Amino acid sequence: MLKPRQSVTGIPVYHPPLAGREGLRLDFNENTVGCSPRVLEKLRTISSEQLARYPERGPVEARVADFLGISPSELLLTNGVDEAIHLLCQTYLDSGDEALIVVPTYSMYRIYASAAGASVVSVPYADGFRFDADAVQSRITERTRFVAIANPNNPTGTVASLGDLLKIAHSAPQAAVLIDEAYFEFYGKTMLEARREASNIFVARTFSKVYGLAGLRVGVLIGHAEQMKAVRLVSSPYNVNAVALAFLPEAVSDQSYIDQYVKEALECRSRLEGALQAGGVHFWPSQANFVLMRVGSSADEAVRFVEAMRRRGILVRDRSSDHGCLGCVRITVGPREHADRLLHALQETLEELGLVQGALRR
Ligand SMILES: Cc1ncc(COP(=O)(O)O)c(C=O)c1O
Repeated sequence: MLKPRQSVTGIPVYHPPLAGREGLRLDFNENTVGCSPRVLEKLRTISSEQLARYPERGPVEARVADFLGISPSELLLTNGVDEAIHLLCQTYLDSGDEALIVVPTYSMYRIYASAAGASVVSVPYADGFRFDADAVQSRITERTRFVAIANPNNPTGTVASLGDLLKIAHSAPQAAVLIDEAYFEFYGKTMLEARREASNIFVARTFSKVYGLAGLRVGVLIGHAEQMKAVRLVSSPYNVNAVALAFLPEAVSDQSYIDQYVKEALECRSRLEGALQAGGVHFWPSQANFVLMRVGSSADEAVRFVEAMRRRGILVRDRSSDHGCLGCVRITVGPREHADRLLHALQETLEELGLVQGALRR
């Protein structure tokens, strides 16, 4: 048998539970109803000629750049934010460099940084999953070449201030600082402008969450035009497929669909948080389309909760193995039609497991 590179053998296995996802999908922070109908209509117009050709990214990049109010030279469409992370690691990390992450957070930062041969330095969030800029700054060294911060963060739903993020970028001018804004639409604050004050900042956005296109795999990486030249050297010219490219202009055009979805998801989030508070269930107030809550003090209790919700037709995600998340589950919020189902199932589950301390407010 071949021996993988040493940096690969040390990578922890990451197997998100994708199998058997029957029911209401509140486990992956996706759009729970799907994409805009206008995007779907486009599907019928795809021709065999479009599929026969290698996909041309340029014109769609220009459209997305226009939508974001930036120049096409500052942007790269990617195969999801995952590819954006991978490309940054390939572009900037050498073996022996350090990659700084703030945990708990999205798993792929660690995986791609480790695969590039970097050593991963994990800084924990402070009490209440508060972003501790001083703690992060204190771990920056001259070997720090990559910093990844999700804002809002997954799985906690908490945020870092734009000022703190800028401070960190200024403290690590030798590092690519990725601000992963996968959940931007639910939060509304972005580093897109502030990034101009530090050329080492990159911002990532995705079409997998609010846009309802996780299956297409499209993301955007934004950065200083000079830095993006280097990232493009590593990227395949055909990294985003023709179907995804055909859909994207329609997806960004239908902003009323996005606005309505966000409005209802935020209503659902505040109903869920209100219900948890009334029931005495500990949770962390979220700025994203999910809420992290503690349903017990052991991994078994989180598993029991996830199973009880599944019996009621609702998929939620066990986060017990994440740093500081023992006994925690994460629930994605969605539009009105799903909020009622969620709150009903939640009430029954908490009662069944003897977790509820007061009546849940719907
Ligand atoms: C913070 C964060 N970044 C990136 C991703 C993945 O995005 P994409 O589907 O665009 O690869 C996720 C998905 O859960 C996420 O939570």
